Amino acid sequence: MKTNFSSTAPSEIDTECLVAVVLDRADNDRGGKDKTEAFAAVNDPAVQEAAAEVIASGEVTGKSLETALVHKPARLKAKRLLLLGGGKAKKFAAADLRKLAGAAVRSLKAKSVRSFALAAPPEIPAADAVKAIVEGAFVGNFDSDTYKSDRKDQKIDALTVAVQADQAAVQKALDEARVIGESQNFTRDLVNEPSNRMTPTILAEHAKKMAQEVGLKCEVYGADKIKELKMGAFWGVAQGSDEPPALIVLRYEPAGAPEKPVLGLVGKGITFDTGGISIKPAEGMEKMKYDMAGGATMLGAMRAIALLKPKVKVIAIVCATENMPSGKAQKPGDIQTAMSGKTIEIINTDAEGRLVLADGLCYARQLGCTHLVDAATLTGAVVVALGYANAGIFANDDALYERFAKALAKSGEKMWRLPVGDEYLDMTRSNIADLMNTGGRWGGACTAAAFLKEFAEDTPWLHLDIAGTAWMEEQKPWIAKGPSGIAVRSLVEFVRDFGQ
Ligand code: BES
Ligand code: MN
Ligand code: ZN
Repeated sequence: MKTNFSSTAPSEIDTECLVAVVLDRADNDRGGKDKTEAFAAVNDPAVQEAAAEVIASGEVTGKSLETALVHKPARLKAKRLLLLGGGKAKKFAAADLRKLAGAAVRSLKAKSVRSFALAAPPEIPAADAVKAIVEGAFVGNFDSDTYKSDRKDQKIDALTVAVQADQAAVQKALDEARVIGESQNFTRDLVNEPSNRMTPTILAEHAKKMAQEVGLKCEVYGADKIKELKMGAFWGVAQGSDEPPALIVLRYEPAGAPEKPVLGLVGKGITFDTGGISIKPAEGMEKMKYDMAGGATMLGAMRAIALLKPKVKVIAIVCATENMPSGKAQKPGDIQTAMSGKTIEIINTDAEGRLVLADGLCYARQLGCTHLVDAATLTGAVVVALGYANAGIFANDDALYERFAKALAKSGEKMWRLPVGDEYLDMTRSNIADLMNTGGRWGGACTAAAFLKEFAEDTPWLHLDIAGTAWMEEQKPWIAKGPSGIAVRSLVEFVRDFGQ
């Protein structure tokens, strides 16, 4: 999708469709009068007038995500005018605008529109508005129907953002948003692929190709190196599969960056999770192709980081393997020695994510990372706790959490902090070894996090459990069903904040 901006008055823009946001300025949140006072959030009398007619008809009230399409709108150069409800004016924020841009893309591309202009509402500061619009548009433009033989491949080809503001600032916001939006979709493309077309080897090939394109160092290691590094926890998972594992390491080391900090991004890259010998039930198992979403997230984030060039060192590590049952597979009761030297009693071979991450985190520390973030589709329990609406976030360091919370505010992504106190670690003590790889029935997201925390040791660390959020079970007006690309935007904002 091509993106540009125009400082021409929206009514003067010659386009297939002009999109204007309609807000409701009535202040009746808490009941009382149910009157609405809708208006088009555009600094252009001709557009406001055209919208006012539709609003007067009652067809548009400003309610969030409602739409009305007007053909041949009077006094506008545009062929169509799409009015898009944005909710209460008082509460309207960049995160809402991001979704609206996605919704505009999805509604128009289904109507065979291929290019349109969106008027940035003056309620949001111009650069923030442009960034949200362009990010949201890229997110909306993605569809997951890659292998349909009658795939229509409906896409928006060109987006113009109508905005009156400092040109340099707007151009910068636009360029950044394109990089971030494309990187989020890069992640989604990887996650969307089924396990026969996204083996650890293929994932590593994608990482190498991307690294070459954006100028990152990339090393890919196989079973020999994993054993040489004494990654017994990672190998324990990989040993059961005929498909070779891959330890993917990406380095971003820009000239002029200080020696420290070195940020470490560690991703779970299980390209298919059968559960292993503790095999999963057949129903829904096909979804376990997305168990490499954490790894794909780190690859997408690194792509954006390499292109946006913050002055901070970053290393990404993706532990990629299948989790398979076989005559070579690890079994419940087996003891594995992790790279850190800690011994782990395998209670359930389906708790494999924490095993590969244990060694990934340890390796990141060995490579000199001073701060760690991992992302993983780690537990069904986080879905029970938070549903599909929020990812779980865990931290061993409040200051680092606060820093990530600032990134969440910028990205508009939703994550909710959950506890990782020592109570949870106690639930994973083994009789025979240092740790068990499960912590019993309750608090499963927290015991999994407590397990990982043992391998972050004294390094400030964040853990993102994206099991419930990496895959959209339903489509939303602004995003397709399928891989969401959650956490890419937040990780990029988080890293950029270190490199200011
Ligand atoms: N990959 C799964 C977690 C998962 C569940 C991801 C649902 C996406 C959607 C993980 O490896 C797993 O199997 N976890 C087990 C852990 C249990 C055996 C302690 C789980 O959550 O049931
Ligand atoms: Mn599993
Ligand atoms: Zn898994």
